[in-house]
Amino acid sequence: MKVILVNGSPHKNGCTNRALEEIQMQLVKEGVDSEIFWIGTSVQGCIGCFRCGQTGKCVFDDKVGEFLNLAKSADAFVFGSAVYYGSATGSITSFMDRVFFSGTGYMEDKPVASVVSCRRGGASEAFAQLNMYYMMNNMPVVSSQYWNQVHGFTPEDVEQDAEGLQTMRTLAINMAWLLKGIEAGREKGLARPKRETWVATNFIR
Ligand SMILES: Cc1cc2nc3c(=O)[nH]c(=O)nc-3n(C[C@H](O)[C@H](O)[C@H](O)COP(=O)(O)O)c2cc1C
Repeated sequence: MKVILVNGSPHKNGCTNRALEEIQMQLVKEGVDSEIFWIGTSVQGCIGCFRCGQTGKCVFDDKVGEFLNLAKSADAFVFGSAVYYGSATGSITSFMDRVFFSGTGYMEDKPVASVVSCRRGGASEAFAQLNMYYMMNNMPVVSSQYWNQVHGFTPEDVEQDAEGLQTMRTLAINMAWLLKGIEAGREKGLARPKRETWVATNFIR
């Protein structure tokens, strides 16, 4: 069982990373593997060319492709972002637009959670923004004892956010529990759900 923890902050070793490390430490205790994946400082946005629908992959060969290669064999995901103006960062938004548009098949049916880091405000808005991707991709969203947020300007600040860090540990415990439940179900022959073909109706037709 492996969880990919995506750091969507431009700071490789900042507050978002510290939150993900707390999840990682708890996952180790739960016997679940994980890897922190940093998206870097700039990610090309989706250009809406729809080529991925024909070829199965994005026209841009960058961190998105690297991530989707890992995602194929991963069992679960956590997407983390710093809060910029009450929203997720531009980079993680570009990253997730392209991940979910070109690679939804690698994400479907796998547990997922969001984590946000802010100095003071806007965490709920950014958290809700990230959760939008999962809710239309058949992914079980893992919760914690509170909305998954930490507060700080530096990782040292986050160190003092005892409740934020506890929220991360609880998230990891809940994630591990769900993953073990899914594995136990699979061993008993419980298959992935079969769904109807998507009926896409635009408002105008
Ligand atoms: C452009 C920019 C916008 C920001 N906007 C907010 C904000 O709306 N609310 C907030 O509390 N912090 C805001 N911050 C602070 C960061 O979200 C906060 O320090 C975060 O924990 C940094 O995480 P990181 O170290 O992983 O990058 C902003 C920082 C930058 C650079």
